Amino acid sequence: MENRTIEFYRKSADYILERIPEKPEIAMILGSCLGSLSEEITNQIVIDYKDIPNFLVSTVKSHAGKLIFGKLGGKNVVCMSGRFHYYEGYEFEELSIPIRVFKLLGANKVILTNAAGAINKSFKVGDLMIINDHIKLTGASPVRGKNIEELGDRFFDVSDMYTKELRDIAWKCVNKLEQQYRTHDGVYFYSVGPQFETPAEIRAMRILGGDAVGMSTVTEAITAAHCNMKVLGISLMTNMAAGVLPQKLSAEEVDVAAENAAERFKELIREIVKEI
Ligand code: HPA
Repeated sequence: MENRTIEFYRKSADYILERIPEKPEIAMILGSCLGSLSEEITNQIVIDYKDIPNFLVSTVKSHAGKLIFGKLGGKNVVCMSGRFHYYEGYEFEELSIPIRVFKLLGANKVILTNAAGAINKSFKVGDLMIINDHIKLTGASPVRGKNIEELGDRFFDVSDMYTKELRDIAWKCVNKLEQQYRTHDGVYFYSVGPQFETPAEIRAMRILGGDAVGMSTVTEAITAAHCNMKVLGISLMTNMAAGVLPQKLSAEEVDVAAENAAERFKELIREIVKEI
């Protein structure tokens, strides 16, 4: 494993800083279900991942692979259109790159959204879950390797990783928009994928305290916590997790549920960006 220094990330950040008029305050990494929110960003400056030195490149051809800078809800934001997952073949340590670059650009808050399978049987497809914690039992930490002191301490606390401050704001917005009947608090269980889980894995995850399962978000949240960024994570239940219902899981089911919930989910994120 390569041991990177702060200069590695600065190279990406400096390239971007030369091209944007104002530094972003909030970074957003939106799951496939929410990508279209980026279309609402005004005063857009779009930078292709492939043009940014040391940045990651999308493996999925159809994926946008762009950073979108501009204004949303009166705030300067940067939105990643197309995120990176371990199952695509990246190392865990590589997955730290986007968040560290956002930090060097000046962002101190990050909003992470994802599609997830509902482990908690009281949840329904289309419900949202404000992540209050996560469980990651597989794979390495994204901040493994020589510590970068300029970003954070070697050993760091993660007991408020999904910060209460941002969760409280999210709940205020949920209540204001009267989405409280379709929104929960809960624990996100990380699964490396790309296969969905087995029913036995889901039963184990439920016993361990997971409410929803998904293949993203936690590497980004851990990296953000290391460099002292505030994290808000929200999951959309696109399916009941494996074995909950007597049927097979499919990517189509996930896409349909995501499309159906997109407007409501976007309304909430818009409101949250305005309020934080
Ligand atoms: N498991 C893992 N990831 C997912 C799921 C699931 O059931 N649904 C959407 N993303």
